[in-house]
Amino acid sequence: MTPNLRSAGPDDLAAVAALSGQAFSVSPSPFDPASRPYLIADERRVVAEVDGRVVAHAGAWSFGQWFGGGRLACAGVAGVAVAPEHRGSRIGSAALTRLLQLAREGGDVIASLYPMNHHFYRAHGFELSSVRRRDRIPTQALRGLLPPGGGRADGLTVRPVQPGDVDGIEQLMPRRARGANGLLDHDRRWANRYAGQYPPAGYAWVAVDRDAEVRGYLQIEHTTATQPEESFSLSVEELVADDVAVQARLWRLVGSDHPGARSAQAHLPPGCLPRLMVEPVITPVSGITQMSRVLDVEKALLCRGWPAGASGEISFEITDPMFPDNAGPLILAVADGVPDVDRSPPGPGRTTLATSIGTLTSLLTGYLDPAIAASSGLLPGVTDAEVGTLRGLLAGPAPETVEYF
Ligand SMILES: CC(C)(COP(=O)(O)OP(=O)(O)OC[C@H]1O[C@@H](n2cnc3c(N)ncnc32)[C@H](O)[C@@H]1OP(=O)(O)O)[C@@H](O)C(=O)NCCC(=O)NCCS
Repeated sequence: MTPNLRSAGPDDLAAVAALSGQAFSVSPSPFDPASRPYLIADERRVVAEVDGRVVAHAGAWSFGQWFGGGRLACAGVAGVAVAPEHRGSRIGSAALTRLLQLAREGGDVIASLYPMNHHFYRAHGFELSSVRRRDRIPTQALRGLLPPGGGRADGLTVRPVQPGDVDGIEQLMPRRARGANGLLDHDRRWANRYAGQYPPAGYAWVAVDRDAEVRGYLQIEHTTATQPEESFSLSVEELVADDVAVQARLWRLVGSDHPGARSAQAHLPPGCLPRLMVEPVITPVSGITQMSRVLDVEKALLCRGWPAGASGEISFEITDPMFPDNAGPLILAVADGVPDVDRSPPGPGRTTLATSIGTLTSLLTGYLDPAIAASSGLLPGVTDAEVGTLRGLLAGPAPETVEYF
């Protein structure tokens, strides 16, 4: 039976909440009608109906995802679910394809998601692109944390988040993301969660400077105790700081829950203050991979940042069954960090790298090292010189993500 695909509307929320509750077993459902002001906008959610009943859903948050210092408009795909009795009949594929088409038409350059089902997403051009790691740290180690060189007199005030802080929090995100690979900035609906309204169980603070500018943001949740003698445990959902003094202040706030909470789970990337000061007490907890798919190859190559001073030229032959505009020959030329894209076929004597949209995505995000791609057979015929060029152009920190969506 051919499903009827359409954009979601307010009347679909109960059906979508039931679908996602059944598919993901989370309570409360992320599509609970009570959460409506903070949900993905209706026009960025697709439902499929069979016999007038909603049997599938797919949605896309509106994010910016940063690579090499450049921002790609990103569809953060979430809530992809099909009613069990309709699975395996390509309804999920139809809903996801329609969602990605809408996202591309709306200007999104990349789509990213946390897969429960790698095979399903690979079949639609997604490939591994980033990791969301969680570590555990004893809160005791955070209580007195100071920046290298010390100093508590930072001129900061830390206070609970108020609704008027949303602008300041939103502006923090791109400042952090510029120096990394894979981090996100957020649309207003997502940012509104930070105002302490959603999720209701969370606690959130901002650090403001003497000019009342938001310089840092902390969101934590209380979770079930994981260590002996603690009443509860902490989950640091977000800790964003403009500089190391702000970081220190917010980590000390996390530590202030000692001994009620003896441990906190958090994202502790290389170079963060706890790693610099108290590395030996940090233990890894989990790491989940993100998958991404470039929706618009030319825009992705032009919007991604390239290292200042880096130059090089590479010729690709791209396959992309879903978006034929992406497919075919493409020459990327970067001169002193400035990219240019040429769609004309390479001249005689030029080698061309045959690559799928998935492999290209994995390379562009910095997740897949070109030499490893070569040795895995993902770039047939690539030369050592081309591997060197790609490595020079794609150099940067390993991609990491913080938010779960
Ligand atoms: C995953 C899901 C959305 C797929 O939708 P669907 O309508 O059942 O899948 P389709 O019939 O469109 O299948 C498309 C492709 O994915 C593959 N696929 C679908 N479900 C699969 C599964 N559970 N395991 C492995 N592959 C699967 C199909 O074999 C097909 O691959 P092919 O093109 O190589 O033949 C659906 O099964 C579902 O709702 N699952 C529970 C929730 C979930 O896992 N959501 C994804 C969360 S990130």
